[in-house]
Amino acid sequence: MDELNFAIYGCKKCRLWQDAKHGVPGEGPINAKIMFVGQNPGVEEDEVGRPFVGKTGKYLTKVLAENGLSREDLFITNIVKHKTPKNRKPFADEVAACLPYLLEQIRIIKPEKVVLMGKTAWLTPRFNGIKYYEVVHPQAASRFPKMGKKFQEQIKAIMR
Ligand code: URA
Repeated sequence: MDELNFAIYGCKKCRLWQDAKHGVPGEGPINAKIMFVGQNPGVEEDEVGRPFVGKTGKYLTKVLAENGLSREDLFITNIVKHKTPKNRKPFADEVAACLPYLLEQIRIIKPEKVVLMGKTAWLTPRFNGIKYYEVVHPQAASRFPKMGKKFQEQIKAIMR
């Protein structure tokens, strides 16, 4: 995992590193049973090199805690490891360039469950023997009450 993180910090496989301060590999225990995958780090995550530390991250952490999940128990990352300009959706070639990092993280961690948050993360190819769940993105969930309700129901169902 250390080697992988090192590769992500120095990655120049697509254009995104040019506009970013940090690669954001993700964080959590190497033996986590559950992984959460978002789209790409935002400005606040880029500042510190850690995933989901901004407004969306605080919302996510709260919903997870309400469902008995502590941040320390899960591995949390994104399908794209650098921030995008103006937080635009990552382009297909950027997702393709970055995807091997996520797949390697899943191979190393071997979680029981992977929660894919938002349509970009839903593109993740699946390994046999792991349960995958597609949920709405917590950024949309934190902004729009209807999406928030859906997100909370989805997380509750997964934890059941
Ligand atoms: N949104 C994401 O998808 N990922 C982050 O790390 C932060 C916000």
